[in-house]
Amino acid sequence: MNEDARAKKEIAAIKGTKDILPAEAGNWQWAEAAARQIFELYGYRELRAPVFEATELFEKGTGRASDVVVKEMYTFIDKGGRSITLRPEYTPSVVRAIVEHRLDLQPEPLRFYFMGPMFRYDKPQKGRYRQFHQIDVEVFGEKDPAIDAETIEMAHALLARLGVTETETLVNSVGCKACRPAYHRELKAAAEKTGDVLCADCRRKIDTNPLRIFDCKVEACREAAAMFPRIIDHLCDECRDHFVRFRSCLDLYKIPYRIDPLLVRGLDYYTKTAFEIVTTKLGAQNAICGGGRYDDMMKEFGGPDLCGIGFAMGMERLLSVTEPRPVQGKVLYVAYLGDEAKKVGMKLARIFRRAAIECLLEFKDKGLKAHMARANKLGAAWVIIAGEDELRKGRYPLKDMGSGVQTEGTPEEIIRAIQESA
Ligand code: HAM
Repeated sequence: MNEDARAKKEIAAIKGTKDILPAEAGNWQWAEAAARQIFELYGYRELRAPVFEATELFEKGTGRASDVVVKEMYTFIDKGGRSITLRPEYTPSVVRAIVEHRLDLQPEPLRFYFMGPMFRYDKPQKGRYRQFHQIDVEVFGEKDPAIDAETIEMAHALLARLGVTETETLVNSVGCKACRPAYHRELKAAAEKTGDVLCADCRRKIDTNPLRIFDCKVEACREAAAMFPRIIDHLCDECRDHFVRFRSCLDLYKIPYRIDPLLVRGLDYYTKTAFEIVTTKLGAQNAICGGGRYDDMMKEFGGPDLCGIGFAMGMERLLSVTEPRPVQGKVLYVAYLGDEAKKVGMKLARIFRRAAIECLLEFKDKGLKAHMARANKLGAAWVIIAGEDELRKGRYPLKDMGSGVQTEGTPEEIIRAIQESA
């Protein structure tokens, strides 16, 4: 490509990223507001961590054997020679922040939420992006399996508020440090027996972390994995008891669920409870929510021995199964005729905006008819006509665009009338 052609070539959004245009952004704001409101009702508070972190955080937290760390991280060396990674998930950042700021010493419950972009260099497809957004919640210091069920109940409360139906909740237990080594040995032996059936990647995982074979999407590996010993049959007494009590709490909330013994989740840190909420409305990328318990991460990060549990929902997937909700507020259009009237209009618009009334004022000279046509096109609920005469009288005509009725009033009277009709 020559210089000219290169200069003319359009710069487009990077593959796997997308713009959220104003027509869609209202929906995002609506879902985010619902999430905030619900999480705060359950005692969660927002914790905002940086978009990039030391690479080591995710290697240690997300796990060196996970696909996310091995294949999908956006990692680079910064100008200071440090290895930096754009966060592929949020959980390790929250744990780091708690340890760093000793949040565990505060009297508040350790319940946090966050919404923001995550980055994974995965193959883009419908429902899978390289920059995507998560709604994430995390709770710390609660061993009781009732909290595992409560977080799932809270996820369902949000889905219900957003009108998301046709979901299925999948649960499993992935054991703990006590029961996993023996299970790993059995799993390893079973995987080794399959010979060349498994893909090269999975054959490598036999030695590094055989549990990760369950994450493989290759059909032959999935078929083989379905025959492997199941972690759920190898739980220690504590994990088995936790799983039973967790499920009885789901029953208490009347949340239907299915035990999926192959659900091990793609990240290395999970202990005991693992869960996903999937929707039947999406294709291959059908998980709208994934989470579980991770009782060892905080200690491994050099912090206190505090257990954790949480989940993350994918915003793009979530919004693709909600009904779009255009939240068009009522708008007041300010029409004016001529330069002097324009100044009046500018002052009036300021008064209305300060009274929290959405107000449109455009700076192109127009006749009254053209102003009305424009107001109509923009879907304005009212038009106020600003002129020098009106300024002198201190009273302005206001047209209700729905009924066509025209009234008159001072700015204060107009504000009151608009507020009453809203
Ligand atoms: P995860 O299962 O990797 O878990 O991601 C959670 C959710 O994020 C998925 O269920 C999906 O909806 C969405 N998601 C993941 N990758 C993509 C992608 N490439 N494009 C679009 N959406 C995506 C975690 O991230 C854990 N940190 C969840 C957690 C919190 N566990 C405990 N606490």
